[in-house]
Amino acid sequence: MKPKNCLIFGASGQIGRNLIRSLTKNNIKVTALTRNVHQKGYILKTQANPGYLEIVEGSIFDHEKIKELFNNADLCVNLIGILFEKGKNNFNNIHVEFPKMISRYASTYKLEKFIHLSALGIEDAKDSIYAQSKLKGEKEILNNFNKAVIIRPSIVYSVDDKFTTQLMTLLGLLPIFPIYYNGKTKFRPIFCSDLTNSITKIIIDDIKENIIEFAGPEEMSFKEILEKLLILIEKKRVLLPMPISLARMTAHFFELLPKPLITNDQLRLLKYDNVLSGKYKSNNDFEFDCSSRFEEIVNKYSYMWKNEGEYSKKRVN
Ligand SMILES: NC(=O)c1ccc[n+]([C@@H]2O[C@H](COP(=O)([O-])OP(=O)(O)OC[C@H]3O[C@@H](n4cnc5c(N)ncnc54)[C@H](OP(=O)(O)O)[C@@H]3O)[C@@H](O)[C@H]2O)c1
Repeated sequence: MKPKNCLIFGASGQIGRNLIRSLTKNNIKVTALTRNVHQKGYILKTQANPGYLEIVEGSIFDHEKIKELFNNADLCVNLIGILFEKGKNNFNNIHVEFPKMISRYASTYKLEKFIHLSALGIEDAKDSIYAQSKLKGEKEILNNFNKAVIIRPSIVYSVDDKFTTQLMTLLGLLPIFPIYYNGKTKFRPIFCSDLTNSITKIIIDDIKENIIEFAGPEEMSFKEILEKLLILIEKKRVLLPMPISLARMTAHFFELLPKPLITNDQLRLLKYDNVLSGKYKSNNDFEFDCSSRFEEIVNKYSYMWKNEGEYSKKRVN
């Protein structure tokens, strides 16, 4: 059977790279857009067998070029998302205007499927600009392409993430680690491959649900996540609750950095539990396998953050 072609925006990120591997293994060709082929080309090239991946360099603000890409597409997955704003890369452009434009093209070019990555908990977080922009983007998509599938995952982890890997680096460096809201915010971390295999299944099985929430099998507070990571990297640290007024002040300073560790908007978002809402179908309502357990998976790469790195005795192959 002639392979279908899936156009992916945001393909070089954590979820994108995993998704390329999963789709191409299932005989689906991928066209991946990146802003910088010199920086991201080599990461992308190694994700698929020859002939299964086309890499295109371009800007999401070049509307003509973006439109052209839809000519040869059967499917489209949008993974572009940001956590902080910088110039034209603001929440409105990235989370609202861009999805609005490509969902319109998906409809004009009669694509079979349009899948968009949103986030869990965005309906509750009314004071977060990030969350509200994601919500507005979802509405624009569903207006333009009523068969769209919107995926709302909890936090996603893997060896390629900016979550467990960044936390383990910080926990390695800081003897005292600040925690916000006493570390009580709840998460349901989901393993990246479980999520991307499910996206592939949504395509293959032609699942038509508009909104699907995705959560891993374990509910953990932020403090419990840090405690698990500390056990895995064999370190003892003081987890110190930080008053929120002080956290806001430090976030103002972080916002001056090119890649802030935390922003005030993220601080507001962190107030809300990141768990299934019960209002929409979730991965548990479909035949997706999202059963990977946090400690078991992170144990496969956390040895790199132990004192003896790859020579550590507890390395698991
Ligand atoms: N990771 C999580 O825990 C998590 C949780 C909930 C929801 N999500 C959502 O899932 C999606 C993918 O997440 P991820 O973790 O894979 O993200 P990621 O690793 O940060 O990758 C983001 C991708 O977006 C692209 N991008 C960012 N700004 C862009 C711009 N101005 N123009 C063009 N491309 C741009 C980057 O592509 P280039 O640099 O190659 O151009 C990169 O490939 C996002 O929408 C995110 O909000 C993620």
